[in-house]
Amino acid sequence: MLKGKHIILGVTGGIAAYKSAQLARLLIKAGAEVQVIMTPSAREFITPLTMSTLTGKPVITEFFTANTGEWHSHVDLGIWADAMVIAPATACTIGKMAHGVADNMLVTTYLSAKAPVFVAPAMDLDMMAHPSTSANLSLLRSYGNHIIEPTSGELASHLIGKGRMEEPERIVQVLSDYFSESKPLKGKRALVTAGPTYERIDPVRYIGNFSSGKMGYSVANALASAGADVTLVSGPVSGQNLSKNVCLIKVESAIEMLNACKDVWHDVDIAVMSAAVADYRVANQSQCKIKRERDSVPNIVLAKNPDIAATLGGTKKDHQLLIGFALETDNEVQNATDKLSRKNLDAIVLNSLRDAGSGFGIDTNKITIIDKTGNIIAYPVKSKPEVATDLVNYIIDCISNK
Ligand code: C5P
Repeated sequence: MLKGKHIILGVTGGIAAYKSAQLARLLIKAGAEVQVIMTPSAREFITPLTMSTLTGKPVITEFFTANTGEWHSHVDLGIWADAMVIAPATACTIGKMAHGVADNMLVTTYLSAKAPVFVAPAMDLDMMAHPSTSANLSLLRSYGNHIIEPTSGELASHLIGKGRMEEPERIVQVLSDYFSESKPLKGKRALVTAGPTYERIDPVRYIGNFSSGKMGYSVANALASAGADVTLVSGPVSGQNLSKNVCLIKVESAIEMLNACKDVWHDVDIAVMSAAVADYRVANQSQCKIKRERDSVPNIVLAKNPDIAATLGGTKKDHQLLIGFALETDNEVQNATDKLSRKNLDAIVLNSLRDAGSGFGIDTNKITIIDKTGNIIAYPVKSKPEVATDLVNYIIDCISNK
């Protein structure tokens, strides 16, 4: 899968740099052309000679070669690359990448790269656990970069914890999967809910909301194009484009939506609950059209609707990934986090009505993903299909790190 691919291998100054030699070798063996860029401190850990011998290309560390004055164009390299892999990525380089601190050839090339970027962090457990590292990794994810999570085990400090760079074989596998014809979610079954629910008052009237279904339909399409086998359970919406690979189940009420979800849930690997389910239904629904009275108003009695996400969360198995949405107007992160734990979700996608570009009926959204370990990724305002792609990339990363 990597035959003929142009790969920039960025090496930064951490002890795991010794593994980069093996990574370069495996990439070359897989047929890739590899250009190594090292940060100045990486040279303290592994020599450029080792890397250039393995790749057959001079290693680049500086913007120009001092004795010849040859200029290395980060822009040309960024265009040349089919992928950029930074392994190991230290906390320092991750921070520079997150904030655009382009003070070396590696970060400058990263900022110019058009190709997908894969980042394999490696550091001591306390550095890995520091809030600034999590925040910077979240920023990188929000830019669309792929994070190859470090593993847990004995570290260079002899402490035991999370921070070991993923093994080179596995990094090559992640890249091969990315480029392979087989899509990343092939063989996975996904369930998406979308749109509003309508709760009938009588045969001609209902209680509903303004959800357009745009977000949920975009998520269903993005999951299908990543290869998942998608069932979309949709409340009443109109005018949404749906990929022909998505199986659509149309429902009207929350109870119908719950039943349709329960029918498929046991077979599902990924569920994204983006429907705006009505909180209440009408307990005294009339079978005949309610007549307008001259002197009184009808008394509509409400009953609570079941919480579909929480119902699925109650029987969630280890292999199942359950993601909900939270539309909030105040105290956003706290409210979303409460919902995440109350419904036993793995992650929740928060959109705040206070953010310009977020909400019902419009074509853009601004999301923040919060996971059950408290990690927060805030994305900029994007079109709903782009937001769906970000969410599906997040799901792909969750599944490959599960
Ligand atoms: O509690 P709240 O309605 O804000 O939670 C929003 C999340 O829960 C969304 O993912 C929504 O689709 C889901 N939900 C549900 N069934 C309900 C209410 C909300 O699945 N009855």
